[in-house]
Amino acid sequence: MSTILSIKGKSEIFVGRVEEALDKFLHGERVVVITDANIDRLYHDLIGRYDHIIVGHGEGNKNLVAVQTIYSRLLDMGADRSTTLLGIGGGIVTDITGYVASTFMRGLDFGFISTSLLGQVDASIGGKNGVNIANYKNMVGTFAQPRFVISDVEFLRTLPLRELRAGMAEVVKMAIVGDAELFAFIEDNISEQCYRDSDIMRRIVLESARLKADIVDRDECEKGVRRVLNLGHTIGHAIEKCTNKLNHGEAVAIGLSQISHLSSRLGLLSREEMLRIDSLLEKIGFSLELPVAMSDILREMRFDKKKSNNLLRVVLPERIGLCRIVEMPLSELEKYFVE
Ligand SMILES: NC(=O)c1ccc[n+]([C@@H]2O[C@H](COP(=O)([O-])OP(=O)(O)OC[C@H]3O[C@@H](n4cnc5c(N)ncnc54)[C@H](O)[C@@H]3O)[C@@H](O)[C@H]2O)c1
Repeated sequence: MSTILSIKGKSEIFVGRVEEALDKFLHGERVVVITDANIDRLYHDLIGRYDHIIVGHGEGNKNLVAVQTIYSRLLDMGADRSTTLLGIGGGIVTDITGYVASTFMRGLDFGFISTSLLGQVDASIGGKNGVNIANYKNMVGTFAQPRFVISDVEFLRTLPLRELRAGMAEVVKMAIVGDAELFAFIEDNISEQCYRDSDIMRRIVLESARLKADIVDRDECEKGVRRVLNLGHTIGHAIEKCTNKLNHGEAVAIGLSQISHLSSRLGLLSREEMLRIDSLLEKIGFSLELPVAMSDILREMRFDKKKSNNLLRVVLPERIGLCRIVEMPLSELEKYFVE
């Protein structure tokens, strides 16, 4: 059974089997695949059907050097404006593919087969594409919607446990932002075995994707409501900059916990709900200990690109399923965290 969600009638998110989706979205046009070596090794039957370009994996490869290399390869391959780029992989592959596709020859048609949990519930959806510059995450990028996103939960069977957990951090974020029922569903079903249960994973992917698609549909360019999706990310990104020991999801999990504690201290979130959030994150398997000193994290937050006029937009949970955006000078935030 497959489900299709739509963003502004220009981006379709297909949750179901990949072969059915490929028949639906590709009709004999020239396709160039961008992927990484892990996906090529595990799914060469799929990758090998198309001309393909392999990028290095890891956040350190999500940069303009990779982009430049892909541009050159596309030129060598004779790609033109009728070529469709197909990113097959996790969030790193899809972020790079979207950026290349939306800039090469002023924009090619593109789509994704999202293979990681984090990608299926978040990164592949919504048209934010980009790469890192020096130590700044996603500092260069575009808003451009993929024509289609294909999420087949069967890919998750080969995803390592650590990456599955990382994806769950974004699922928990989505649930806190706008879906209390999804939060309760995860509380009831989470275990190491649940990742092998296609029905459970399909529901998690579908409900998270539905929520994200709905928010992006209302605010494509992040001028308003879409900002709630940054819940836990200002702190999470700062943690990622301070240490390379944690992946994105692990840093976001700590960010979610820290921001829930702040919200509770501010009297917005009840202590009971704050403890529910921590306990679910721990049940998933996250350590919520700060991996570096809070003073280092606050220093990195000063450079956050979502800051304007020295005001940070902080997303604070009011209850599970509802968040509020508050503008706060960094100095005030620092005061709460160092108290
Ligand atoms: N554009 C957005 O809106 C958005 C939102 C959230 C996160 N992101 C970005 O997403 C990136 C993180 O994405 P990610 O966690 O998917 O990382 P990733 O792309 O590095 O994938 C994680 C690892 O899993 C491997 N992998 C992927 N699918 C697999 C599968 N089915 N089987 C086995 N191995 C597989 C990859 O090769 C990689 O080693 C970050 O760069 C983050 O900034 C973007």
